[in-house]
Amino acid sequence: MPTPVNVTVTGAAGQIGYALLFRIASGQLLGPDVPVRLRLLEITPALKAAEGTAMELEDCAFDLLSGIDITDDLKTAFDGTNVALLVGARPRSAGMERGDLLEANGGIFGPQGKAINDHAAGDVRVLVVGNPANTNALIAQQHAPDVPADRFTAMTRLDHNRALSQLSAKLGVPVGTIEKMTIWGNHSATQYPDLYTAQVNGRSAAEQVEESWLKDTFIPTVAKRGAAIIEARGASSAASAANAAVDHVHDWVNGTDWTSSSVVSDGSYGVPEGLICSFPCRSVDGAWQIIQGVEINEFSRGKIDASVQELTDERDAVRQLGLI
Ligand code: NAD
Ligand code: LMR
Repeated sequence: MPTPVNVTVTGAAGQIGYALLFRIASGQLLGPDVPVRLRLLEITPALKAAEGTAMELEDCAFDLLSGIDITDDLKTAFDGTNVALLVGARPRSAGMERGDLLEANGGIFGPQGKAINDHAAGDVRVLVVGNPANTNALIAQQHAPDVPADRFTAMTRLDHNRALSQLSAKLGVPVGTIEKMTIWGNHSATQYPDLYTAQVNGRSAAEQVEESWLKDTFIPTVAKRGAAIIEARGASSAASAANAAVDHVHDWVNGTDWTSSSVVSDGSYGVPEGLICSFPCRSVDGAWQIIQGVEINEFSRGKIDASVQELTDERDAVRQLGLI
């Protein structure tokens, strides 16, 4: 049996954690031959609930699960970790302004970034799911100067999958016939799901739908899907978010030709360097690469710029708060 891969999940007792841990332990995150050791990080009052989830994991008798550690200590959680899924975050509560949320999460993601810097394995890969995911990822990355910046990513794969599903239903084609789907920008309502780049059966997706559907139905449906789920379920997306996290890490480790991932900008497509922004990405030899040469029309440019402006504003806000 190969050495187990250490996978840390923060917020492990939460609803995404509950949907995620069993899939990791069954081999869907890293592959059917890769044993894993789980590290569950929770705040102290939620440790008991995390223990309950761990008991259920034991009861599944997963062949690949070599052990489970449950802790509220950052060093223990990230010691030697190879994959860190940062899910736990402070949700927005009544009366909280965006600045309050950014500040509360800065208090979480700054120390977690530092603990990753000081204790994680040399090959650590980090996916931030907790919202506001892109800026939380930036905060963590900025506290980890010894870790290559490209190891910090934020999740826009759920948006990508939502876009695939909406287009597939509209055209009545299988999801697998859609190529080059791309989410640009922030994981927020300003995100830009781009049908001019996407292709179906080798032809531009934008040419196969009405312009009014693309602009007035598709984009807002994908961008506001998170809010629509909250409205319908009374809780934010959990199983689909966990599924997207599995897709993201699986493809990062095992390779993919094209997906959407929020990665540190190198200045591509005019996105200021250092922002953690969603781009069309491929993964080669376990590293994300921003796909170059995508044509951007005037409409797309305006949409991308608006979402990137929001990321810039969030970065400036956390700078002003002294969080980065
Ligand atoms: P949840 O409230 O059910 O669970 C969050 C868990 O995090 C709780 O168990 C809480 O105790 C824990 N936690 C809080 N602070 C912590 C800390 N400092 N360290 C460790 N654990 C901590 O929430 P959820 O539904 O699982 O969602 C988690 C996050 O994911 C939210 O921020 C949500 O908005 C976000 N989310 C992101 C996406 C995406 O696509 N990027 C999609 C869905 C949800
Ligand atoms: C989602 O996209 O489902 C979530 O990010 C929504 C949210 O605000 O929690």
